[in-house]
Amino acid sequence: MSNDIAQQIQDLKQERNAIILAHNYQPGEVQDIADFVGDSLELSRKAAEVEDADVIVFCGVHFMAETAAILSPEKTVLLPDPLAGCPMADMINGDQLRELKAKHPGAAVVCYVNSTADVKAESDCCCTSANAVQIINSFPKDQDIIFVPDQYLGDYVAERTGRELIFWPGYCPSHAKILDIHIARAREEHPGAVVITHPECARPTRDAADEILSTGGMVRIAAESDATEFIVATETGMLHRLRKDNPGKSFYPATEACLCPNMKKIRIEKVLWALQDTKHVIQVKEPIRTKAESSIRRMLEVCAG
Ligand code: 13P
Ligand code: SF4
Repeated sequence: MSNDIAQQIQDLKQERNAIILAHNYQPGEVQDIADFVGDSLELSRKAAEVEDADVIVFCGVHFMAETAAILSPEKTVLLPDPLAGCPMADMINGDQLRELKAKHPGAAVVCYVNSTADVKAESDCCCTSANAVQIINSFPKDQDIIFVPDQYLGDYVAERTGRELIFWPGYCPSHAKILDIHIARAREEHPGAVVITHPECARPTRDAADEILSTGGMVRIAAESDATEFIVATETGMLHRLRKDNPGKSFYPATEACLCPNMKKIRIEKVLWALQDTKHVIQVKEPIRTKAESSIRRMLEVCAG
């Protein structure tokens, strides 16, 4: 059945001149039919570069497809389930950010890409978990910076850069479920395993880890490290990618509780239906699109150099 669907997707992809991009947290069956699987930064680079496709099927959550639509407005960007949102991205809106800016005149705004187009349009620069430290360091030392919406990524960046940032109390409900006690228990079960954690986790969880990495960073360390066992403190979709890339190594979830229900809304059937009916198209209206684009492009420029 699945093979049949996979074949139909391949055929329709040719017919529509489409490319399928998928985030590292997507269900395994979706990762397996994608042309490219990556972290948020790699996916936004891909969306900015892709030239020879007319359609991008984005297998991820809404802000990711929106980022692709902002960067490639001439392409048709499809999100196979329009209800696949990111609760953290919805924790701040454009009005709330404008109010925060009014309280801190002169402060620059850095927004995590896990944010809506409205919020990106109100920001000076975007960042992802892979480049947040580099982005903050690209601002002059005496520049006040508002960091939205993830307070935990913000706390991690403040720790790493030694800078005080103005936070917003957003967080990822899935990563908030990973506690330091889960890591302690997993270490007891797998002594010697390297603990890799996402910076969306709260400080006690990060402090219990060996490495704090974006999902792309996890892919790299798993491949490059001599270690053969890893405890993975992030969304459980990551395990499919890590196990597939590293058949000789073992990966254990810190807890199965870190599951993003929105990432799991995308199924291969929905990818097929999206291609069949050219739905659900994600578009961003002007002038929001152009303003949001400059925040994303500034991020891509800072981390290209
Ligand atoms: P990455 O940028 O590390 O892939 O993370 C995206 C995300 O949504 C984490 O919850
Ligand atoms: Fe948003 Fe968290 Fe899901 Fe990432 S894992 S998409 S931050 S809810």
